[in-house]
Amino acid sequence: MQIVILADATAVAAYGAKLFIRQLQQKADSVLGLATGSTPVALYQQLILAYQQAQVSFARAKSFNLDEYLGLAGSHVQSYRYFMQQQLFQHIDMLPEHTFVPDGSAADPFAACQQYEQQIAAAGGIDLQLLGLGRNGHIGFNEPSSGLRSRTRIKTLTAATINDNARFFAADEYQPHLAITMGIGTILDARSLLLLATGAAKADAVKAMIEGPLCSACPASAIQLHQQAVVVLDEAAASKLADIEFYRHIERENLALLQRLASK
Ligand code: GLP
Repeated sequence: MQIVILADATAVAAYGAKLFIRQLQQKADSVLGLATGSTPVALYQQLILAYQQAQVSFARAKSFNLDEYLGLAGSHVQSYRYFMQQQLFQHIDMLPEHTFVPDGSAADPFAACQQYEQQIAAAGGIDLQLLGLGRNGHIGFNEPSSGLRSRTRIKTLTAATINDNARFFAADEYQPHLAITMGIGTILDARSLLLLATGAAKADAVKAMIEGPLCSACPASAIQLHQQAVVVLDEAAASKLADIEFYRHIERENLALLQRLASK
């Protein structure tokens, strides 16, 4: 995996946005994997800006979101579908029928999970999957103990995750404790992964993901298996990495190599 350590969350968002813009410029009909949570919001703002400045178009792209709360319709203000509409979809030119989010209000949620897998396959698979990171090491809503080859399915949220996400809900509001999420196997099938983590609260999960053993106790450690994974961190999120100087050294070497090749 490529580990990029940048000064702050703004730089992380800008770096991530550049990878999405490059992906779309190279392949206009890219299939994008998208994420919710607070971390990707700044990246989405950069994408909206790039679209407004005509640097990029989503007109031929498709998107698949990682997860959705079970029991919330897409019109519900706490649903991830609603979040995506507000944060990205309504500001860009992606066709509404090309934006896929698991259906949290499906009459048969088990069938909806299978259908989601079929829709991803029918679109040709995901080219670039964006990931955030839960404080407990989850990706999507793949909580600790998730099967490392799991597919889209219903997951029970941990108390820690419910607590972390409680800030988005009003005190008297129903907060779902189940979700539909792409599985870890689904995520690993994406042709490239881009995981963003910022802030000191993520430092333990980042360490477990990068330097810990591959294990379901830290679902994000599964990205160690991926051939094309980029992890972009700010200083605070990277602060507990034991080998941080080596990761910085690798990045410098990578950049130098690319410059040498470009100047030939
Ligand atoms: C949520 C989402 C994840 C997200 C994570 C981190 O539970 N299901 O996809 O990565 O929390 O969220 P944040 O970026 O707000 O820290």
